[in-house]
Amino acid sequence: MATVLILDFGSQYTQLIARRVREAKVYCEIHPFSVAEDEIRAMAPAAIILSGGPSSVYDEGAPSPAPVIYQLGVPILGICYGMGILAVAGGGVVARADHREYGHAELEVEINDDLFAGFARGESSTVWMSHADRLEELPPGWEVIARSTNSPLAALRNEAARQWAVQFHPEVVHSPRGREILANFLFRICGLTADWDMESYVETAVRRIRERVGDAQVVCGISGGVDSSVTAALIEKAVPGQLTCVFVDNGLLRKDEAAQVCRMLEPHFGKDFVFVDASRRFLDALAGVEDPERKRKIIGRVFIEVFEEEALKPRPGRAAASFLGQGTLYPDVIESVSVNGPSATIKSHHNVGGLPELMNLGLVEPLRELFKDEVRAAGAVLGLPADLLGRHPFPGPGLAVRLLGPIDEPSLALLREADAIFIDEIRHAGLYDEIWQAFAVLLPVRTVGVQGDGRTYDQVVALRAIVSEDGMTADWYRFPPQVLARSASRIANEVAGVNRVVYDISTKPPATVEWE
Ligand code: XMP
Repeated sequence: MATVLILDFGSQYTQLIARRVREAKVYCEIHPFSVAEDEIRAMAPAAIILSGGPSSVYDEGAPSPAPVIYQLGVPILGICYGMGILAVAGGGVVARADHREYGHAELEVEINDDLFAGFARGESSTVWMSHADRLEELPPGWEVIARSTNSPLAALRNEAARQWAVQFHPEVVHSPRGREILANFLFRICGLTADWDMESYVETAVRRIRERVGDAQVVCGISGGVDSSVTAALIEKAVPGQLTCVFVDNGLLRKDEAAQVCRMLEPHFGKDFVFVDASRRFLDALAGVEDPERKRKIIGRVFIEVFEEEALKPRPGRAAASFLGQGTLYPDVIESVSVNGPSATIKSHHNVGGLPELMNLGLVEPLRELFKDEVRAAGAVLGLPADLLGRHPFPGPGLAVRLLGPIDEPSLALLREADAIFIDEIRHAGLYDEIWQAFAVLLPVRTVGVQGDGRTYDQVVALRAIVSEDGMTADWYRFPPQVLARSASRIANEVAGVNRVVYDISTKPPATVEWE
């Protein structure tokens, strides 16, 4: 199978380039720009894409690729910083612009080139720019194929050297025709065929897991969500009989959730599936705690204790585990290496961050390159139940961050009922799959109401439903009014102790998805 090599120069969009290449059904691998020459030769890529990056090509120690990439004779596409790399390597002049160009620009194709097949000459299309360096002088042998509002040199080619370069980012959604441009590069310029799919991804992931794990044992925490289930299913497929999946009920799950998850996953994992009811331990440790970050820390700590105990329990015929399977997704990776640095911890999402070091385990993270929808597709290939794959994300600390104020069991029970009614109404209206995440929150305030002839002084439930690409930004979901009306009326009537229901219309930012 032909491989496209994507060299990563540190752009936050590198994984998006990979995603677009995968969408075009072509196999690709991302490697750091510094990957060794031998490795590149061994890979024998059919094409190379150079990503963008935060550096300037003239910075001291600016990242640059091994010169072997120019000797392979395969087509190269440089994007943004990658354009600077190609230009400087070809003898062009790049300078730091006074202002960073950031945002939409109009691109106009100047000459017919395969990269813009399907674009008429002079036709304008929107592209996304994000750069500070600017090419000032064209390297010899290069010509301009498109210009943009602010860059006379927006896209270039050197046909003889089989190199193309674009100043803008074709991989982001803000370049609506970017996919076409990338597909033109892959198919017209490189002559590749669309012969790669999620089944091939699963095969490759399985092979890599086998190579990494060998005949060692792996443990994997299962939350009942998509990411951990798909991770475990991949490991199970790669090294059957060497996996122990541990599903911990922390007492903060939704209504009937523990039973549902066991029903969905036990048949798939058989004796490799272990269920632990540790709800008492978690709830005791949380008694009286109000502060959201303290709640998360306690839940993380107790989880590690419970998980470690289970993972260390001797299992007949099995050695102790040496690896931990984790369902880290690409958006988790970017959130954790965010340019804002460690000072910008908004919420400590990574509840079990210290686990691998603590238990001295190697990590297996087969989903690190994928986005959520790709994980769902991989899960379908692995034969996981559709119900499970379509589930909304649910935070590790569970209902603890949806029950504002101190946690007690009656409030948890009340929240579970309200949440179940809301989800039931959403499913009933056929809207579940349109929504990224929907849930109820129990507020620590009482308001006055009237029921029958009497005054009530009861609690408020807030409903939240959002649409999102990856959870990093979100918009509130526009429900048909009757869905909210039915949910509110059922909650106030069926859940004793609640007399008022409100709908949260905050976006992220400035709010977050969860209330705590
Ligand atoms: P926020 O509230 O940060 O949520 O906008 C973004 C996404 O992350 C989930 N979330 C968490 N997931 N542990 C998790 O595993 C956490 O502590 C946590 N806090 C929020 C949230 O449900 C949403 O999908």
